[in-house]
Amino acid sequence: MSRSIQTIIEPQFVIEGADVLLRRSFGPKRSNEYDPFLLFDHFAFNDPVEGPITGFPMHPHRGIETVTYILEGSVHHRDSLGNAGLIGPGDVQWMTSGRGIMHEELPRRGPSGVIAGFQLWVNLPAALKMSTPRYQEVNAATIPTTQRDGAIIRVVAGEVAGVRGPVTEIAANPVYLDVTLAANSNFVYPVPHDHQVLAYVFEGAGRFGAEAEPVSAVKQIVFDDGDQIEVSTEQGVRFMLMAGAPIREPIAPYGPFVMNTDAEIRQALFELRNGTFIKEEATA
Ligand code: CO
Repeated sequence: MSRSIQTIIEPQFVIEGADVLLRRSFGPKRSNEYDPFLLFDHFAFNDPVEGPITGFPMHPHRGIETVTYILEGSVHHRDSLGNAGLIGPGDVQWMTSGRGIMHEELPRRGPSGVIAGFQLWVNLPAALKMSTPRYQEVNAATIPTTQRDGAIIRVVAGEVAGVRGPVTEIAANPVYLDVTLAANSNFVYPVPHDHQVLAYVFEGAGRFGAEAEPVSAVKQIVFDDGDQIEVSTEQGVRFMLMAGAPIREPIAPYGPFVMNTDAEIRQALFELRNGTFIKEEATA
């Protein structure tokens, strides 16, 4: 059965970090409606209304994974493990914060003067919230692209017609695809029945879901239950497709932490104050 559209979210402008203006589709809430996904932000500094480039100075995370995908420009990052580097166009950084990481994320304009990309937060199950922090840094060149029937699909995580994405061993068993559909094309993608499926439409327009509802950029689509999603186009469309297994645990979100209980949030804040939050020394 093809999935229908359940909800279409209009991304809202919010200010985060050091005055960074973002389009936020959703953020962490106790209601956890998009389980296992906690947050989806679209940053784009191509419009003067969005102000000067600042970024996200050193901040902690615990209990989640943050996934940064860059379309244009880059993000310079540094963290408490001693990692530092540039996430460039087409690159992905999949960070599993586990029990704790401190990091800095500073966007930089590309040659076109534009910075654009997405940050997705994926929940961790209780058993992994205090695991060892881990990074999967994926260079654009190692993200496979598959082309078929007018579709160009970059496979970050999950599988498309036998092509597997480089990001693996993630608790929510996620699919994360950058899908571009040409004019007059059809895209059908099978998804596990019980997985959460979202599509962030950021260029063009297409018809989504079993009812072929027209949706144009910029919107976040939340799909209902079913075994596959369907998209067709008259002109052309580009969207990020996310699917993942719900974790189905209560969550206690607080800023950059998402734990299961309020006591665990208090513990994280206590450790930050007394300097015991970071358990891993920088190795580089
Ligand atoms: Co962060």
